Amino acid sequence: MYTIGHILKEIREEIGHPLQEVQQKLNIDLTLLSKIENGKRLPTIEQLQKLSKFYNYDDKLLIIQRESDKITNSFEYPELAIETLKVAEDKIKYGNKYIQLFQDTIYQKPISLESRRYIGSKAKLTEWIMNLIDKETENIGTFVDIFAGTASIANQAIKKYNRVIINDILNANNVVYKGFFEKGEWSKNKLHDIITSYNTLDADLIEENYFSSNFGGKFYEHNTAKLIGYIRQDIENLKPELTEKEYNILLATLIYNIDKLANTVGHFDAYIKKPIKPQPLRLRLIDAQNFENVKIYREDANKLAQKIKSDLVYIDPPYNSRQYNRFYHLYETLVKWDKPKLYGVALKPAPENSSLYCTTKAKNTFEHLVSHLNTNFLVVSYNNTYNSKSHSSENKIKLEEIESILKKCGKTKVFECSHRFFNTGKTEFNDHKELLFITEVDEKRKNKSFASLLRW
Ligand SMILES: C[S@@+](CC[C@H](N)C(=O)[O-])C[C@H]1O[C@@H](n2cnc3c(N)ncnc32)[C@H](O)[C@@H]1O
Repeated sequence: MYTIGHILKEIREEIGHPLQEVQQKLNIDLTLLSKIENGKRLPTIEQLQKLSKFYNYDDKLLIIQRESDKITNSFEYPELAIETLKVAEDKIKYGNKYIQLFQDTIYQKPISLESRRYIGSKAKLTEWIMNLIDKETENIGTFVDIFAGTASIANQAIKKYNRVIINDILNANNVVYKGFFEKGEWSKNKLHDIITSYNTLDADLIEENYFSSNFGGKFYEHNTAKLIGYIRQDIENLKPELTEKEYNILLATLIYNIDKLANTVGHFDAYIKKPIKPQPLRLRLIDAQNFENVKIYREDANKLAQKIKSDLVYIDPPYNSRQYNRFYHLYETLVKWDKPKLYGVALKPAPENSSLYCTTKAKNTFEHLVSHLNTNFLVVSYNNTYNSKSHSSENKIKLEEIESILKKCGKTKVFECSHRFFNTGKTEFNDHKELLFITEVDEKRKNKSFASLLRW
């Protein structure tokens, strides 16, 4: 290793002083001097100061070299040296605040894809769904999650199948998929430093911004809203220095962390009208990975259906009139960051990316979708919320309608999983049933779109 001794020797030789001369002038033992220059002894601070003065060299630079020699020689686990130094750096930089960082940042487990509140997420049903798919289908090369939402199903499919296509119409979901799955260059240390700087911000010193003046005191505690708006703007300012993957990881990280602090019952159709308790905003990175086998889209499912070829398409559309772009408008506004004019009590932007699946056209749209897919298996999730007393929770497509459409496509089996289900607190279904249809598309229709079968 290149030590302080080697540096001292180089300086001396450059100036052209023989070792004896240094010994005489500074009164340091010759053998000791030679051991220092060979890296066998570390000079004392006093010796180093004498030498730097004699060589007319900045003593601080030499002291830094000496300190770093001491550190590098002290590792009992040299293979962890870089990470150890990073932690030491944070400890020195953040002093007493370090304990909070340690508890909440990168050194803890990164945030998993499932830890997000999302209406209709299948996170708790993945095992049931994936096991059925495994049992009932074969030769699946390309798996499509065409209404991916949180991508809880795609997240399992990625581990199992060669190619996975993930699609959803919402901007925020797209950013989340790219952050978690897309292949791209990114540096964990760089993101850690950025996140650490956000975690040590003082909200009192931050100015009012678009996010806080709209959402502060409503969807988020006011100071938290100031921090969110500041951080979002900072991510935008940093964009030229970030790779696309880093940019998406930071945005997804922001979404996942603020999800837990939102003053809501899990979506942004409304906020809770009670004073909001201040809570610290401590960001923790998402569990970002690089997958080779993933393709991500943000398209209307019916349009995408006409462009892709696959072996299995998992279909989990919205079934009632509640639009996802309205449920999660705040994340759309945050991700797009075009600071739109907001309307109504829930501060929503003008509607964009509304879904036909939430309208009276749902049945025809579903029929159009399945008939235009070029695939071997259709797997459709369906839940029986249509028994609900709440009108907006009524299903737009009836169970019998789904069944009859799918039967036209091929041999269809239906599976049922009962579980307790709570719908945002308003409507409670103790007897909620979750159904899964698996259709093996008719042999003669395989490998082509089967629109003609349904007379489209
Ligand atoms: C029931 S959720 C899917 C939940 C998902 N399986 C999960 O586990 O999180 C339905 C999703 O479909 C999306 N969506 C609605 N209409 C769409 C359309 N026409 N094309 C693509 N995505 C759509 C919504 O944004 C929403 O995320």
